[in-house]
Amino acid sequence: MVFRLFTRPAPVVSEASLPDAAAIASLHQASFRHGWSKDEVERLLADRTVLAHRAVHNGMTVGFVLSRFAADEAEILSLAVAPSQRGKGIAGVLLDLHMRRLAGLKVRALFC
Ligand SMILES: CC(C)(COP(=O)(O)OP(=O)(O)OC[C@H]1O[C@@H](n2cnc3c(N)ncnc32)[C@H](O)[C@@H]1OP(=O)(O)O)[C@@H](O)C(=O)NCCC(=O)NCCS
Repeated sequence: MVFRLFTRPAPVVSEASLPDAAAIASLHQASFRHGWSKDEVERLLADRTVLAHRAVHNGMTVGFVLSRFAADEAEILSLAVAPSQRGKGIAGVLLDLHMRRLAGLKVRALFC
């Protein structure tokens, strides 16, 4: 019988900020036809009505989610996971924390 003694560390999800702009832009460009530039992402991250989270795995940003909120509603602006990291539940973990933070901001409806 073989026991697995070491498991791979799970991605860590936390709020994204300006220093994450380049990594988020790179992920966005890898995921969408019209990729955002670093400047565009910086503008979004500096916007007080935008909430952003990122997932980091082995020191690399592997996913992000951004939404804009107003009153008790929010809209997902973008969500992406690095192509090589998809299908491992990373988007699910990102959205779980993101939606809990939105709920804490009194958001009751989320659109995408
Ligand atoms: C969509 C995306 C973010 C999913 O990321 P992921 O980390 O692979 O997703 P997860 O592994 O957490 O899967 C979460 C759930 O979504 C489902 N799912 C994943 N990709 C999906 C897709 N393209 N369409 C529909 N459902 C999808 C999974 O089956 C899973 O469902 P389950 O929990 O019932 O098994 C990723 O495929 C991606 O970056 N795609 C390109 C960008 C994009 O389309 N973004 C969404 C629109 S803004």
